[in-house]
Amino acid sequence: MSVDVIVGLQWGDEGKGRIVDFYAREYDVVARFSGGDNAGHSLVVGNERIALRLVPSGVLQEKNELFIGGGCVVNLETLVEELDLLAKLGVDAHRLFISDRAHVVLQTHIEADKRREAERAQPIGTTGRGIGPAYADRASRVGVPLREYCERASTPQAKRVSAHVVDGVAYIHERLAQRKRVLAEGAQGTMLDVIYGTYPYVTSSSTIAGAACTGLGIGPKVVNRVIGIAKAYCTRVGAGPFPSELHGREGERLRERGREFGTVTGRPRRCGWFDAVLARYAVQLNGIDAVALTKLDVLSGFERVGIVTAYTSDGANETQYLEGWAEEIRGIRRIPDLPPAAGRFVTTLQNLIGVPIELVSVGPERDDLAR
Ligand code: GDP
Ligand code: IMO
Ligand code: MG
Repeated sequence: MSVDVIVGLQWGDEGKGRIVDFYAREYDVVARFSGGDNAGHSLVVGNERIALRLVPSGVLQEKNELFIGGGCVVNLETLVEELDLLAKLGVDAHRLFISDRAHVVLQTHIEADKRREAERAQPIGTTGRGIGPAYADRASRVGVPLREYCERASTPQAKRVSAHVVDGVAYIHERLAQRKRVLAEGAQGTMLDVIYGTYPYVTSSSTIAGAACTGLGIGPKVVNRVIGIAKAYCTRVGAGPFPSELHGREGERLRERGREFGTVTGRPRRCGWFDAVLARYAVQLNGIDAVALTKLDVLSGFERVGIVTAYTSDGANETQYLEGWAEEIRGIRRIPDLPPAAGRFVTTLQNLIGVPIELVSVGPERDDLAR
């Protein structure tokens, strides 16, 4: 059986969107399995930047079907905006299917999200999209499944969305029976997982590979490969622990060179060195087979590049420093062609996390990939 899963290994924004776009050509269906419009997955094509919050990042591959699974929560306004965006891009919207089991994010959820944040002594720094309250209502059995909403609501918006709503379980199992290849696209990142992340500074859904099963309604035996996406350094938006965070000049440089500002909220992202302790934890939680490393180009020009290799009992870190490289690397298409110091950085990461790095992204454009 052929379901492969792509997940973020850090705190989100690892570059899942553009990596999914790359792998998508090998699949028939690209399926989002968790989260809602708290996600922002960007694709860069020439001068155009497309930021997707709900629609899977397979949109640019003409043959792909796109599926939003039952594990997701859907803001209908955002969805309609994205349907308009698809129309603008010339994407046939008949390719988009949404599970009837997904839940609706209501205006009351958005208000509750903002109110709870304001009331917290230590705010989480949510995206303010109502995600927590929508998942809480589902768990409290007072939520609104999309199926129900579409039956009841008679606005043009609900009608437009209804056209895409299907029996999500039947949908995915028909595709599997037809031997279609499915790529399950994660949102957020492992360290934002509601169970295994830096709780309570997490999102309200499960973000790890196991959630692809519950979120799409498939058994674990159909999952074949799990690919993890990690940035060559770490970022985090919002509050919460960040062991490898850099507060000085190096952190600012990462933010500037990496353009680390939130896709959804525009907030500056906190930046720090690659954290190998955290990456190993993420490899375990997801059962990672291979890693795609993104934004290596951002490290060009640093005199030294750091990797956190251990946490010490007094709350500090052990950081291993490697010599940096001056060369810009955006034009490189083969991993062995990287400047020697960049190659050593990749090999060191690979050895520390214990799984192969099969793809290195060296720029935001679709083709900026080295294998
Ligand atoms: P996602 O949420 O994991 O899909 O990631 P986002 O799209 O929110 O954030 C990743 C950002 O980094 C986007 O602005 C991408 O265009 C950009 N990006 C992705 N890969 C690379 C890369 O290899 N190099 C550079 N410089 N930018 C990249
Ligand atoms: P993608 O898919 C980065 C963070 C928020 C906040 C916490 C809880 O683009 O990688 P929420 O609104 O979910 O209740 O916020 O989770 N967060 C993300 N950070 N990338 C994301 O998605 C995120 N989705 C949620 O900043 O700290
Ligand atoms: Mg993002």
